[in-house]
Amino acid sequence: MKRKVTKAIFPVAGLGTRFLPATKSIPKEIMTLVDRPLIQYAIDEARAAGIKEFIFVTSRGKSALEDYFDHANELEAHLRRNGREDLLAILKTTNMDSGAIAYIRQHKALGLGHAVWCARRLVGNEPFAVLLPDDVIAGDKPCLQQMVEVYAETGGNVVAAMEVPHSKTSAYGILDVKEDLGALVSVRGMVEKPAVDAAPSNLAVIGRYILTPAIMRNLDRIKAGSGGEIQLTDAIAEEIVRSDNVYGFRFRGQRFDCGSKAGFLQATVAFALARPDLRDEFSQFLAEMTAVRRAAE
Ligand code: UTP
Repeated sequence: MKRKVTKAIFPVAGLGTRFLPATKSIPKEIMTLVDRPLIQYAIDEARAAGIKEFIFVTSRGKSALEDYFDHANELEAHLRRNGREDLLAILKTTNMDSGAIAYIRQHKALGLGHAVWCARRLVGNEPFAVLLPDDVIAGDKPCLQQMVEVYAETGGNVVAAMEVPHSKTSAYGILDVKEDLGALVSVRGMVEKPAVDAAPSNLAVIGRYILTPAIMRNLDRIKAGSGGEIQLTDAIAEEIVRSDNVYGFRFRGQRFDCGSKAGFLQATVAFALARPDLRDEFSQFLAEMTAVRRAAE
């Protein structure tokens, strides 16, 4: 019988060099879209998908992230005294149950595959989800929930996939499609950051995965690959050869690459415009900015 997916790994041990100097002291995952840190979006998505255990793979300098999930007793008492039930309700969404959250250190940034492998003892012999918080996905049904449903049907490894322009394929893990079944594709291979003319398709893997325990066993053996890093892609590609049990899934939703500056700004605009309390003022500002720019051109 297929086991339910109740554990999720959040690899957050990367150096975040694209956001220097901010990431010199602020973990990328704490940077905010409007008023919520990136990590909160990922946690909410995981919760909606039925995840009960949250495993963070962290590194030196990420203590702000750990503090974020603590109860802020003094602040809560202050808000209670002042009758600010509205703000208390917002704070409540950041609290995690005792024992639901675990932190594991990746001592050196050896790659995403290595970060996931660091959580192997906490995951044990169970299927698990992996969420990269810098991919933020907006949509009616949370992306991971869609994937859990696909996993319940297939029992195989499921990776979130989306079409990207051919010129951008060298920035992603790319699927070699065996059979296109619509939202679902079966794959015969997967390659990390291929040269543009060597990309087997333009179907890119983005930061949501549901993986079987076999992937951890593959990671036990994987050596450094593309970019000198231990790649999760290589462990998944090995599983395609070994068990033919890997699916790409075209999720429904809009993905923002918040690991890049342009993507982060686009997400900020999109999320601000989706907020009833900000929409009018912000869209007026954007219209004025656009008019000023047009006039200057
Ligand atoms: P990125 O490729 O975006 O790297 O990692 P990064 O270090 O976060 O950012 P840049 O490229 O230097 O700006 C994708 C995800 O994998 C995690 C990151 O934290 C991010 O969530 N990661 C990457 C690790 O946890 N450990 C690693 O060794 C590498």
